[in-house]
Amino acid sequence: MKRQRLDKYISNQLIISRSIVRKGIFRGLAVVNGEVIRDIAFSIDGEKDRVIYDGKEIGYKEYVYILLNKPKGVLSAASDRSRETVVDLVPEYLKRQDIAPVGRLDKDTTGLLLITDDGVFAHNCISPKKEITKSYIVSLDGDINDEMVLKFKQGIVLADGTVCRSAILERIAPCKVRIIITEGKYHQVKRMFGTVGLGVNELHRESIGGLTLPETLKSGECMEMTKSELEKCIFNK
Ligand code: URA
Repeated sequence: MKRQRLDKYISNQLIISRSIVRKGIFRGLAVVNGEVIRDIAFSIDGEKDRVIYDGKEIGYKEYVYILLNKPKGVLSAASDRSRETVVDLVPEYLKRQDIAPVGRLDKDTTGLLLITDDGVFAHNCISPKKEITKSYIVSLDGDINDEMVLKFKQGIVLADGTVCRSAILERIAPCKVRIIITEGKYHQVKRMFGTVGLGVNELHRESIGGLTLPETLKSGECMEMTKSELEKCIFNK
């Protein structure tokens, strides 16, 4: 656990501006291990030290892990000048300075998206080397056939020559399929179907590894998960 300055620690945990926290610390609102601390640069070990600010005990979490049911029309980015981003949908109590989506879903794609400030975890989730499965429900403008299922299994070659890994295609209803891929190239699913002459009308991510979007999580809603819960689902499914 890395040590942190008292003002930064309190400000991050309670989502209060650093300048307000500093004034509070000078006024004697911060208590560390039972002692009032007025030094804003006092060094804190969030796992060991007991910190109370303005009467509230602070429970330290080094990183935050958020699962979002992404709605249509929202950008997969940490910030944007004018357009709404997935980070705008995170409730204030879960918001932190450095949170960002883990990979991207297109603006018109819906479904499971992770958001975190843990860069190593995010990297592991999207690294092609880890071969984590991503499962999507796709509404198409036509039906698939056995030949397409075989082509996807053998590895689709995109229009620009990029070779995709083997993908599983399952027909679940007329013009509706589930596709399971283990990589995340730009517009991958749409481009894969483009090679067999099919257009994607709707795209919804239902799972990443063994982590499936909970049915109770409505479009636009977020929930917090722990790192170990996520790792168990995603990496040891
Ligand atoms: N593939 C796409 O084409 N778009 C997405 O949003 C995700 C996968």
